[in-house]
Amino acid sequence: MINLKELKDLLMEYAKAQSVSAIVQWDQETYMPDGAGEFRSEQLAWLSALAHEIHTGSRFQHALAKLVDLESGNIIDDKTDPDTKRFLALVWKDYHYASVLPAAFVEEFSRLTSQSQQVWAKARMKNDFNAFRPYLEKIVDLCKKQADYYGWTLTPYDALMGQYEPGMTAETVGNLFSELKDGLIELIEAVRKSPNKPDDRLLKESFDTEKQWMFGLEVVEKMGYNLNFGRQDRSAHPFTTGFHPTDVRITTRVFENDMKSAFFSTVHEAGHALYEQGLPAEFFSTPFGEAASYGIHESQSRMWENMICRSLPFWQYFYPRLKELFPILKETDVINFYRMINVVEPSLIRVEADEVTYSLHIMLRFEIEKMLINDGLNVSELPDLWNEKMKEYLGVVPEDYKMGVMQDVHWSMGAIGYFPSYALGNLYAAQFLNKTVKDHPGFWDTIRAGEFSVLLNWLRNHIHSRGRQLDPLDLVKDVSGEMLSPKPFLHYLKNKYKDIYEL
Ligand code: CO
Repeated sequence: MINLKELKDLLMEYAKAQSVSAIVQWDQETYMPDGAGEFRSEQLAWLSALAHEIHTGSRFQHALAKLVDLESGNIIDDKTDPDTKRFLALVWKDYHYASVLPAAFVEEFSRLTSQSQQVWAKARMKNDFNAFRPYLEKIVDLCKKQADYYGWTLTPYDALMGQYEPGMTAETVGNLFSELKDGLIELIEAVRKSPNKPDDRLLKESFDTEKQWMFGLEVVEKMGYNLNFGRQDRSAHPFTTGFHPTDVRITTRVFENDMKSAFFSTVHEAGHALYEQGLPAEFFSTPFGEAASYGIHESQSRMWENMICRSLPFWQYFYPRLKELFPILKETDVINFYRMINVVEPSLIRVEADEVTYSLHIMLRFEIEKMLINDGLNVSELPDLWNEKMKEYLGVVPEDYKMGVMQDVHWSMGAIGYFPSYALGNLYAAQFLNKTVKDHPGFWDTIRAGEFSVLLNWLRNHIHSRGRQLDPLDLVKDVSGEMLSPKPFLHYLKNKYKDIYEL
């Protein structure tokens, strides 16, 4: 019988150090006084060095080496049961990723990306791509090296994407995206030609921010977000952070003249938070207590935000309450309101895109990243290529870099390979929701009754409670009985927007 105790004790130490670091980061984004930034960076650097030492130092190596060959990752005892094999494989993989990069490389990468983020922020404001270009060139070079350190089979980009979406290759994503792209472009074209466009000017009227805040909280509690184990605070950019299933926090920001913004970001983050609260506490600190991938995480937030909270049944329940809070909405009815919150409009900025055009923003980033990492595309060619692809995919072209190639923080952070997870989240979500509805034929009636436990229980049982037991593609296959495909997502969109735009 294999003894995992020593290893699990160390994993627990590591998880505690990391969760403390996450609390400190949460504080930095919410309540920290402005002047405390410099010392805060030192605190975080110290905590991250401590965590790294626990995770890759001699005690950990010694404990892991009794069970796994540290070089190859092969499990030493052949008679290990499959669950424990999977467990050890994941622990080794995390250890390998954390330890395979030489200390000098990690230091260089972290110094470069920290500088680059500051340079990017300033250069973006001045619309100066050339100021950012040399930094991005270095980042691309280091990311190629990083991919080589991690190791790859088909293309180096796979290694980078694998940090976020284990088991996914550029080839698989490319095939999924190309089918998705055709379907989306066709739908967007139909929407563009429709004479029946919703008029959403009403939503830009003044909406009391305190009431907006309160309504968002009412809804997320109804969804099942437990405020005994969570809380909501304000921050510049909405985010979710979980320290343990008993402490999962969300943030948002509220605008008086854009009532959609706070509400949909609140329910988006609550979707992430429900996942974190639903991870099995008994496996906390081990891979089975962690989310399956960034894309699976995003599937949860996008399902709640778009497929549930932008659905008609959802508002058939909540619209009376919303009108009570904001009497101005009595000027319209629930059908019109539903159309207003689902306006489709090709636009320049990814984070403001609607659910139909969103994935196209991701695809162009994916294609550009692949060319940078796999095909030697020169960074200086980026702005032109960006505009070309915007025209091809969305039919709009930015007038400056700020609204174009320089809009996202990800590249300046060295997070090349991250973007695909966002769009994959849409595909996972549609496939999961299809199966939920199949399992519960009266599903939409439960939503219409403001009853979310059918959905939440389904997600708890099939997704949340399983942690990282399966890689995303295997999880989808296991849960839905089918391979990952863009068809369910496209079907969902076509069905929904046919009514909204009377196509
Ligand atoms: Co999200």
